[in-house]
Amino acid sequence: MNCTNCLIEKKFDVNTMNKNASLMVVGNGYLGVRAAFEENYPEQTRGLYVAGIYNKAPGDASTEIVNLPDVCGMKIEIDGQAFNLFNGQTHSYRRELNLFTGECTRSIEWENEQGKRFSFVFSRFASKVTNHLIASKVTITCMNETAELTIHTGIDGQETNHGKQHTAEKDVRITDGDIMQGLYQTIESGHEIGMATRCTATSGDQDFYAGNRQLMARYKGTLTPGITYSVEKLSAVHTTLESEQPLVDSVAMIQSLAGVSYQTLRDQSAEKWQTVWASKAITLTSENPFDQLAIHFATYHLEIMTPFHDRRMSVAAKGLTGEGYKGHVFWDTELFIAPFHLYTDADNMKRLLTYRYMHLQGAFNKAKRNGYEGALFPWESAFTGEEETPEFAAINIKTGKRQPVASAAAEHHIVADIAFATVQYYLASQDHDFMKKEGLTLLKETSRFWISRTTERNGQLVINNVIGPDEYTEYIDNNAYTNYLAYYNVQQTLHYMEKYGDTDQELIKRGNDFLEKLYLPKPNDEQIIPQDDQFLSRPCIDLSKYKQSQGSQGILLDYSRHEVNEMQILKQADLVMLFYLMPNLFSEAVVKKNLCFYEQRTIHDSSLSKAIHAIVANRCGDKEAAYRFFQEACMIDLGGNPHSSDAGIHAASLGSLWLATIFGFAGISIAGEQLAIHPDLPAAWQAVRFPLQWHREQLVITLSHDKIVVSKTSATPMTIIIAGEACELVNLIEKKIPRGQV
Ligand code: BGC
Repeated sequence: MNCTNCLIEKKFDVNTMNKNASLMVVGNGYLGVRAAFEENYPEQTRGLYVAGIYNKAPGDASTEIVNLPDVCGMKIEIDGQAFNLFNGQTHSYRRELNLFTGECTRSIEWENEQGKRFSFVFSRFASKVTNHLIASKVTITCMNETAELTIHTGIDGQETNHGKQHTAEKDVRITDGDIMQGLYQTIESGHEIGMATRCTATSGDQDFYAGNRQLMARYKGTLTPGITYSVEKLSAVHTTLESEQPLVDSVAMIQSLAGVSYQTLRDQSAEKWQTVWASKAITLTSENPFDQLAIHFATYHLEIMTPFHDRRMSVAAKGLTGEGYKGHVFWDTELFIAPFHLYTDADNMKRLLTYRYMHLQGAFNKAKRNGYEGALFPWESAFTGEEETPEFAAINIKTGKRQPVASAAAEHHIVADIAFATVQYYLASQDHDFMKKEGLTLLKETSRFWISRTTERNGQLVINNVIGPDEYTEYIDNNAYTNYLAYYNVQQTLHYMEKYGDTDQELIKRGNDFLEKLYLPKPNDEQIIPQDDQFLSRPCIDLSKYKQSQGSQGILLDYSRHEVNEMQILKQADLVMLFYLMPNLFSEAVVKKNLCFYEQRTIHDSSLSKAIHAIVANRCGDKEAAYRFFQEACMIDLGGNPHSSDAGIHAASLGSLWLATIFGFAGISIAGEQLAIHPDLPAAWQAVRFPLQWHREQLVITLSHDKIVVSKTSATPMTIIIAGEACELVNLIEKKIPRGQV
């Protein structure tokens, strides 16, 4: 039986150790704990991250998410020798992240070099009930001979971000006789982090000691055959982001949990997870159970990557699973991750838009610095809302030169992406209060930016020197995606200004002028829409080698970034992204032609590419390609590449699996201001069922190849468009679809 709600690791393999540490993270949006093994291995990257805790290391231009002191590591000594799977013999091994309960468990049967055999069970979870709580447990059973056991565990402040130490230790001690406590402060940003932890062992002696940036407890006991020894550990984390006295709060939390067992807390947390799954799970009937696992995996991570608790934070490109992209926030949030929230609990998307609203000042500053008006949102942002994109990327190992990152200077489409998401939020939620105030402000300020961003060329307005979504094409003019999105941005602003009686005449006049004169690239004689002014005149090369190693950015080892820029090579969906967002802009024939043309030139080196191609291919009726793209997108984190996710999961890619299922195969869209359903399921799927929030009503949609069923509990009628036909939904609609019509 394939388990579709568990991620399973069947063998111990150091090669996949860091990848699985990202995949199997336990978290709750406040914090994330990498699934590093309790025992140490060289090159293992541990990680505990709290949303919003960033710091800038001396000499660095941008901040990064801080790897906080660790509370999950354990040194286990048996008869004086450290337990480690490199030694002795492993008779059985299984690690499992239960996506439905949020608990990660590892069971091992192991024999040491002296022939003594033990069974270990390690478990942990981050509480879904109490954001600040991490619970872990180890049980050890000796299976044949008696052995002496020592366990060292505590708060380990030796953790760094790959060598960069971001915290100073301020106050470390034992309180109440057995609570280890530590107060740390980020060196530049000044956040305080208070941590407290207490262990409860079944028997034996306990003492404490302090090491270099470590506060440790030591448990000693005798393992007797058949008798299980266990240590339960409860740890709390608070920071000055939400607490005036983070250390006091953490200690108080641990004190209040005296006598409460791991199991009780785990059951409470698992129960909370059940409510999440009841309102957010997509249930598939597929020939390939892996599809269901991939969607559950995506849903789990979408849930644990989102800081529901605080609108000053947003979702990082790796969630809270690793240090990739320094924990920064990109357009990934608004276009790839937020839709999941919009259609499952719209308030959560409002939180993410509020993050942008609260950081308008950073966007004003950036616009002003660059000579523009309005809001130019940073390409990468963190806690302050200022631009955080590093100036340089990794070293090119052939030239030894650092590659400059141009995104901060030119990847301006993020401005329109945020505006697009704002409109989508309103259409699906009908949240007038938000739209009238925060939404309209976002729209107006982003429009002001676009209006000031254009220059005149032969009586038309053009947008020069940008980077579109395809980051392998830098500093080009009139990127089609950017121009169409900017047009939509301004058009929608004028629409909502009128709706809410905003009479800012100057903006209305300038907005109309912009709409009248903005150059919008059209299909040429061959029906190809130029990605930008320069693209079609550039040479093509054979990309098969790079397409095979997609995701690796291997092309940058053979060519400099500049050379790549000068060729017809796409990193990711660009026009195809435009087709996805605006399905009615061009005829199906034009979309089909361009999908084929541009896909041939796309390496899919970005994880944001594949699932978007799946959606557009499905709409074009190329079901086989669509399903293939979808399955390949599932493999970005879950596939065989042992290092693909070492630095964290691909948050936008996981969001896009949800998009591909709902907006692609299930065919959900917004038609005018109404919900439309026009499914076209892959041949391998018999049915798909999902909850969907629309206009604050909770719908349940069940689709098969020949039937669409939509239900809701409230009796308020609503019109939805099913396979092109307007239908009135009160509580239930069931529609048979004759084969060939969907
Ligand atoms: C992609 C961007 C994306 C970023 C963070 C880059 O590789 O090209 O589109 O926003 O990764 O996920």
